[in-house]
Amino acid sequence: MNHVLVTGGAGFIGANFVRLVSAQRPDWTVTVLDKLTYAGRRDNLAGLDARLVVGDICDAELVDELVREADAVVHFAAESHNDNSLRDPSPFLQTNVLGTFTLLEAVRRHDKRLHHISTDEVYGDLSLDDPARFTETTAYNPSSPYSATKAGSDHLVRAWARSFGVRATISTCSNNYGPYQHVEKFIPRQITNVLAGLTPKLYGTGEQVRDWIHVDDHNEAVLLILEQGRIGETYVIGADNDHVNNKRVIELICELMGAGDYEHVADRPGHDQRYAMDSTKLREELGWVPKYTDTDMRAGLEQTIAWYRDNEAWWRPVKDATERAYAERGQ
Ligand code: NAD
Ligand code: DAU
Repeated sequence: MNHVLVTGGAGFIGANFVRLVSAQRPDWTVTVLDKLTYAGRRDNLAGLDARLVVGDICDAELVDELVREADAVVHFAAESHNDNSLRDPSPFLQTNVLGTFTLLEAVRRHDKRLHHISTDEVYGDLSLDDPARFTETTAYNPSSPYSATKAGSDHLVRAWARSFGVRATISTCSNNYGPYQHVEKFIPRQITNVLAGLTPKLYGTGEQVRDWIHVDDHNEAVLLILEQGRIGETYVIGADNDHVNNKRVIELICELMGAGDYEHVADRPGHDQRYAMDSTKLREELGWVPKYTDTDMRAGLEQTIAWYRDNEAWWRPVKDATERAYAERGQ
């Protein structure tokens, strides 16, 4: 494998993946296909030796040409934010379902390896007092328009693998955090609120649990699966942070940044309660070990806070509009 097509490579996780590949596989050629929606940015790839093609994964002709040139495809491109999917689900259907279909048809035609990036949210949620964790065999039960379209895309990938022999793997990962994450998301929103002199905002009671993972740990797992994963398999990715609720995360951010109080705002409709991942298969089969392992996420949060502090020019231009949209919904 020496030419990888990365869809959505100008977004948060995709750009961090391109950075990881540039450092760890410097002989690879990387092409990024990204529509540069509000979530994708050319400057996320600054300084990296990757070709950026600005285009839509629903554009069958373009996708066909780029897939034909590549040896493998890593498919990150998606509409990714739950709150946006509650306001307008339509781009989620378009990109997450039709876009994945378009890509599958191209990898099928050209017999190319595909790794599909999915999410823990396809499994639905657990109740707060349920100690269970999601595994590769947990039944799908998505709750939001976003997670329903991600579940749909996973079903398509499995159907194309079984019916047409597409050489695909899937990974279902938990909540990522780290540099280059859009300020609409929980952790960067709170960090930039503090930096901008605004009060951090907690939905509802903040008892919900997300199994947080640093983006570099996620991407190390993706690279391992791409190179060594068994074709047709799904791998759950998670770093055992399912004991940290949103309230604890916001308190930790305030503590690390020397900030005062936070405020409770309107809850998300249909809010998933708890996600928890059992990544035994990935660890035992492929030897994956996360690097950020301290039990209170302190090291990863400190690194992330430092990045936002040092990169105000990156987040400042989109902060006001993001906060205005939240304020309209009482959040
Ligand atoms: P993001 O919103 O930051 O980035 C998505 C990227 O996809 C952007 O660069 C955007 O321009 C691009 N894109 C959107 N529609 C496109 C289209 N039609 N054609 C081409 N490009 C398009 O998202 P992210 O947080 O980096 O998530 C990346 C992937 O990882 C998604 O598939 C998401 O479902 C999955 N995931 C995310 C998390 C998380 O915590 N963020 C966790 C697990 C899985
Ligand atoms: O679980 C994986 C998923 O994680 C990914 O598939 C999604 O792409 C990604 O966006 C993320 O989804 P969440 O909805 O869990 O992430 P978000 O950052 O939006 O919210 C995390 C938690 O924080 C959630 O319980 C809602 C809460 N929250 C969020 C925001 C933006 C707040 O309390 N305050 C906020 O301001």
